[in-house]
Amino acid sequence: MHGVPSLDSSTIDAPVDAIADASDEVSSAAFVEARPDAPVRDLRRVPIHPDYWYPLAWSHEVKRGKAHGVTFAGEPIVLVRTESGVTFALEDRCAHRQVPLHGGVVDGENIRCCYHGWTYDCTGRCVDIPYIGRERLPNGVRSYPCREEQGLIFVFPGNPALAEERPLPPLASLGDKAYKTRRFGREVKCHYSFMHENLMDMNHQFLHRKQMGQMRARSLGRRHGEGWVEVDYTFARMAGEQPIGEALVFGQSRKGTQGADKDVMTIRTQYPYQTLQIRTSDSTLVMNLWIVYVPVDSEQRTNRTFGLLSIRKPGIPVLLDMAWPLLVWFTERIFKEDRWIVEREQEAHDRQGADWNHEVFPVINELRALLRECGAPPAAGHFKGVRIGPAEATT
Ligand code: FES
Ligand SMILES: [Fe+2]
Repeated sequence: MHGVPSLDSSTIDAPVDAIADASDEVSSAAFVEARPDAPVRDLRRVPIHPDYWYPLAWSHEVKRGKAHGVTFAGEPIVLVRTESGVTFALEDRCAHRQVPLHGGVVDGENIRCCYHGWTYDCTGRCVDIPYIGRERLPNGVRSYPCREEQGLIFVFPGNPALAEERPLPPLASLGDKAYKTRRFGREVKCHYSFMHENLMDMNHQFLHRKQMGQMRARSLGRRHGEGWVEVDYTFARMAGEQPIGEALVFGQSRKGTQGADKDVMTIRTQYPYQTLQIRTSDSTLVMNLWIVYVPVDSEQRTNRTFGLLSIRKPGIPVLLDMAWPLLVWFTERIFKEDRWIVEREQEAHDRQGADWNHEVFPVINELRALLRECGAPPAAGHFKGVRIGPAEATT
């Protein structure tokens, strides 16, 4: 019988050569020891915490006068855009016979169930039963705080009392005319934690060797605080030429290995979101990515990714417009490789039934500790759909 590696064992003291942090002011060991009583949970089974704003759809997916069904961690939610253009979010079930409301009809500022026509307003209150009238109305369904921002529809699936005080995150460089922003998304069949690890761990450039050539990432140091971890990298090209797609990101072309190691990439998980920023040696922010991985199913083994990638426009902005299809192609190729590998990681976890990972890179161990700590507690109803407290109003 083979032994299952204990979680996070041999994670700190394994040999780390090219990945050693230059400014190791906060050791990973210290970070972990700061929480000696924290129960070690299988990270891949930690449900995402619902008390944050999550995008559940792009604005264009919810047409005026239409309803659109989505799920958050297995919880069905209907997004409604009324005839005046306002959006709201309700439990996606009719209080009468539990059929989904997203099959219903928008009637003015309300949604009418497609079966018997029970009608709900934006608070989830039942405001009309056509064959009974408005005198003896039952309770309605739960409503969720809902906000539309920069082409995304955000919902607060957790405790609604916390929604007001919890700010929406800054969304890349949207709204700044100096940048052009690409919106992208896809479904990836893995737990959201694999996505965070994949982006933060730049030592996996080997996976992208066909797209990027031979790049070596060097970690400059890392920092952490309440709810966040971040790491800085520089890159050195070991061989080959800079690919054109990468040159577009930096707004300049470099020959051979010249100059690349002056750019600094900072990757940050600010729970539950992630950002990746690249600054050139004069501190110009040339690339600004914001991304979040929203669990779709109750087991949280599939996530829907929402990403905003802002690229600083060059001196002649139209050049970026012209090169945009190439940049899209380049980034899609990279994402495709990342998707393939994280789905294989999830498959391995499913097969092994536990987290056997042998992590040697300190910042990833810090990230893993953060995701565990910030995740929802097991009592919150993991894998049954995350719900905190009773539904606001149910029949
Ligand atoms: S099931 Fe919705 S109105 Fe009857
Ligand atoms: Fe990658």
